[in-house]
Amino acid sequence: MELSGQTVKVNKPRPVNLDLQTIRFPLTAIASILHRVSGVITFVSLAILLWLLNLSLSSPEGFTAAANITDGFFVKFVLWGVLTALFYHIVLGVRHLLMDLGYFEEMETGIASAKVSFAIVAVLAVFAGGLVW
Ligand code: HEM
Repeated sequence: MELSGQTVKVNKPRPVNLDLQTIRFPLTAIASILHRVSGVITFVSLAILLWLLNLSLSSPEGFTAAANITDGFFVKFVLWGVLTALFYHIVLGVRHLLMDLGYFEEMETGIASAKVSFAIVAVLAVFAGGLVW
């Protein structure tokens, strides 16, 4: 290639097109992305839950109103999702802190610890269902 009178060598075999269909995230990446998502869900839901707590503690009528709001299937399902996201954030957060201490830093142990964390969250998700329903 000619550039201001100089010949510049261009590395020919450059990636021209990324075929997204062939890209697979490793389990550790999925665990990490979901940890961020669960953190944001926890942050947003905190405001709604505090409002609900405030309403329920305001007066006997307020408590009845809060109880009525959380009585429907859809709201219960959302509450279950929020609790599960919180459990996910805590369990994977502890895994993160252990990684900060130097554990599970290899790919193999990272995948294994992610699988164990997922299993713990699955049990806690069932527990959350028991709390909500
Ligand atoms: C109200 C409660 C909480 C909220 C709203 C919250 C929210 C968040 C958010 C938004 C992030 C940023 C995620 C990112 O940038 O990737 C984060 C990171 C983190 N959270 Fe939480 N969090 C909460 C509680 C907890 C708890 C109880 C733990 C206990 C283990 C925890 C452990 C962590 C860790 C270790 C990180 C850093 C992850 C990283 O370095 O990628 N969090 N949190």
